[in-house]
Amino acid sequence: MASQFKRTLVTAALPYANGPVHIGHLAGCYLPADIYVRYLRSIGHDVKYICGSDEHGVPITIKAKLEGTTPQAVVDKYHKIMGDAFKEFGISFDIYSRTSSKIHHQTASDFFKTLYEKGSFTEQVTEQYYDESAQQFLADRYIVGTCPKCKNPNAYGDQCENCGSSLNATDLIEPRSTLSGSKPVLKQTKNWFLPLDKLQPKIKAYIEKHADWKPNVYGQCKSWLDSGDGLQPRAMTRDLDWGVPVPVKGADGKVLYVWFDAPIGYISATKELLPDSWENYWKKEDSRLIHFIGKDNIVFHCIIFPAMLMEHGEFILADNVPANEFLNLEGDKISTSRNWAVWLHEYLLEFKDKQDALRYTLCANAPEAKDNDFTWKDFQTKNNSELVAIFGNFINRTVVLTHKFYEGKVPPANTYAKEDLIVLAELANAPDKIAKAIEQFKFREAITEWMNVARIGNKYLAETEPWKLIKTDEERVKTIMNIALQISCNLAILAEPFLPFTSKKLFGLLNIVPLKWPAAKHTGNVAQGHLIHKEELLFDKIEDSEIELQLNKLQKSKEANVSAKKAAPVKPETTFDDFVKMDIRIATILEAEVVPKTDKLLKLKLDTGVDVRTVVSGIAAYYKPEDIIGQKVMMLANLAPRKIKGIESQGMILMAENAKGELSFVTPTKTEIENGSAVK
Ligand code: 2FM
Ligand code: ZN
Repeated sequence: MASQFKRTLVTAALPYANGPVHIGHLAGCYLPADIYVRYLRSIGHDVKYICGSDEHGVPITIKAKLEGTTPQAVVDKYHKIMGDAFKEFGISFDIYSRTSSKIHHQTASDFFKTLYEKGSFTEQVTEQYYDESAQQFLADRYIVGTCPKCKNPNAYGDQCENCGSSLNATDLIEPRSTLSGSKPVLKQTKNWFLPLDKLQPKIKAYIEKHADWKPNVYGQCKSWLDSGDGLQPRAMTRDLDWGVPVPVKGADGKVLYVWFDAPIGYISATKELLPDSWENYWKKEDSRLIHFIGKDNIVFHCIIFPAMLMEHGEFILADNVPANEFLNLEGDKISTSRNWAVWLHEYLLEFKDKQDALRYTLCANAPEAKDNDFTWKDFQTKNNSELVAIFGNFINRTVVLTHKFYEGKVPPANTYAKEDLIVLAELANAPDKIAKAIEQFKFREAITEWMNVARIGNKYLAETEPWKLIKTDEERVKTIMNIALQISCNLAILAEPFLPFTSKKLFGLLNIVPLKWPAAKHTGNVAQGHLIHKEELLFDKIEDSEIELQLNKLQKSKEANVSAKKAAPVKPETTFDDFVKMDIRIATILEAEVVPKTDKLLKLKLDTGVDVRTVVSGIAAYYKPEDIIGQKVMMLANLAPRKIKGIESQGMILMAENAKGELSFVTPTKTEIENGSAVK
């Protein structure tokens, strides 16, 4: 632990409150940050873990439009869902705040005013894209187009998620409005810009002081700084009606750019958590600030936010910005709109009390240096072959044998043999090995080292075979079992940052008040004669059927996407007056028979509530006559009669047709909708 620091403030990117949390979020930054913070707490370091919902910006207003509700209703709904999911997974924020709070609006507003008064902004009237049909400026995600750097056709107006570049909307090739799909026009508007071009030397010096950052982070920063044009001025305000109002004269109808206000959210949340001492974490040189983020946020945390903080002048800058790459799911990019995700709230229902199995898999497979794939098969293997077969098996054997041989009382360690001393030395070394990896943000390595301790324990029992030895050398078995219990206890201590639920259960099983990290350097934490509890299964196997269920779910998403893609485009606009001319009613099929010499047509007799009619319908390929007697259907009752195969058809049954051309009745779901009821 870098010793010059007295305290650490850890932040995890504020997620947009526009949807539930999925495994990509967890693996991206909330889990690694949680492991880091739990470890720091365990070594007794003063640390605070800050997060909250990012409730402004276009991602929120787009979602509100989609859900047919207000931005406030959207953020209220998802702030709760997200906060609950994080808590359920043991993400131990000291505060989970939100940027729509009063304290945040005030803090962000004051921050802007300070920069404004210092003359940090340039006020510029520029041409920005405008959607004439929606009568709105097209900020950020309201506009998409081709990225000028990597040619991704779906880059946003402020950022390309494919190559991570930060963009201005006017950089996009072939821009289009996401509000109407139309080609936007340029219109003049005033905004306040942060002249990053002028600040470049200071930012460059800051970045170059941190050549020790993760290569993916440092490399990206360097490439922006060193690229041809270098940094460009960026607008810090937007013509939008959702966000923190710009607190200066002549800025009516404008709000702060969401990427200006969101990182200030880290400051406001700290204020909310520690009204009297928040400044210790933000303004003292012996405090350390660490931002955990996903790779798409690098530019904002390494360049724009530090530039804002430098201009402000009162705050420390981040000492490190550990960013993960992306987690994919079964070989494909996680996507909310395609429902290609593992949602935490669904996982909790389907794998009850198995939070640690997911934490383990996501940590062991974290996309630390490159994008990585989550597969359900791998999840099953990690659970069954590692958590159950190695760790669980070791604990189970230790506890069962302690009860079998000593009625649950810890036996004394007598004389240590050579193999005992080797195991004890490895055990004593483990905390430093794991700590070193955590401090370097190498969480995959850290959790592997932790599992290695369980491997050592398993191997030790397999080699010493106390279950056999008990018949010939009772004294030796006491020492072996004592050592196995010490290993179990230290495993519980060292598991806490990674698998907090399991650590707690294991301490409960050992009947020990949870111990902190430094205790794991000792190998005699469990006292002789101490009574442990009976076995409680820490992990159980995940069956093939459970995995198949998940894979089927994903397959359904895939199929739904394929058919959604095939859905015909919406027809040209119609009028309400035209629509009401159609008399659509509920009717019941009384009789049905195949029209002779056809294989597609059925002749139906219908009770329409008004009369009984004959209708010829092309549904024979989908329904057998005998199966549909009594079926309620929708019919167009005022369609002009026409002759089909010599039969007068007096109306038309309305059918749903999928992309493959398959037909289905559309039926009311309530029995009290009787024949003759109008459909409108
Ligand atoms: O990418 C995102 O989800 C952003 N809402 C992250 C914001 S991080 C911070 F600056 F608050
Ligand atoms: Zn790009």
